[in-house]
Amino acid sequence: MAGRVAGKKVFVTGAAQGLGAAMASALAAEGAKVALADINQGGVEALARDLNTKYGAGAAFAFALDVTDEAQWIAALAAANEAMGGVSALVNNAGVAHGGDLEQLELAEWKRVMSINVDSVFLGAKHAMKYLRDNQPGSIVNISSIAGLIANHNAPAYNASKAAVWLLSKNIALYCAKKKFDIRSNSIHPTFINTPILDRLRQAIGSEEAEAKLARQVPLGRIGQPSDVANAAVFLISDESRFITGSEIKIDGGISAM
Ligand SMILES: NC(=O)c1ccc[n+]([C@@H]2O[C@H](COP(=O)([O-])OP(=O)(O)OC[C@H]3O[C@@H](n4cnc5c(N)ncnc54)[C@H](O)[C@@H]3O)[C@@H](O)[C@H]2O)c1
Repeated sequence: MAGRVAGKKVFVTGAAQGLGAAMASALAAEGAKVALADINQGGVEALARDLNTKYGAGAAFAFALDVTDEAQWIAALAAANEAMGGVSALVNNAGVAHGGDLEQLELAEWKRVMSINVDSVFLGAKHAMKYLRDNQPGSIVNISSIAGLIANHNAPAYNASKAAVWLLSKNIALYCAKKKFDIRSNSIHPTFINTPILDRLRQAIGSEEAEAKLARQVPLGRIGQPSDVANAAVFLISDESRFITGSEIKIDGGISAM
């Protein structure tokens, strides 16, 4: 199949819905094989069926994975390598939004957020590396957030976790460069994007008011769509970005320009 990422074999975490599903779908549309991994196994199985119907059997595979669990990472990557005939790219996307007051935040809750948002990226990069090495050129895309670059008053764990993803991405980039691996690593930093991650706010104040409230904070005057992030992921996985590593793409409607 022709396409901007034809021949790429991409492992995407958190692929059952939201940005992960959008990125995996866009990658499959541009010719990649995709391994869809999520704690929501039914969700990734449904998306894999859909993509295989659209792009032909063998375009997508589904794997159960809790990204905080090292043994599950090792098993899922081995299975994806077997299914796709290699793994040449990794999208570390699974993550949780989290807000709360510094003094109220329990240590266990802090650790839960750090584990899902940061341990995941470390474990994924560490255990995918041998497959990426065997399938160069490779690319790692880590989904941080604009909240990893700009702090809020009420998101200590989210801010810290996403900032860690930002610098860990650069560490991985320099590690690969130093080892002379043709494997790039970059981060993407979205602001509010229209996915189920916003459901809690929608439920609290209503869908229309939620989107309007968030849009008021964005210079472009609207929240983003999953395709805004998926387009950047396709670029970073493709060889169009072959000289870009240790870098970040902000998809924030201008927030960080203020
Ligand atoms: N949507 C936004 O506004 C926004 C903005 C900035 C950054 N992000 C980041 O983008 C990523 C995806 O966000 P989204 O909006 O698609 O969220 P979402 O809640 O819609 O989807 C997250 C997916 O991750 C999966 N997941 C959660 N914990 C997991 C675990 N332990 N193991 C495996 N999978 C797990 C969920 O099952 C779900 O399918 C997250 O890292 C989030 O922090 C989102």
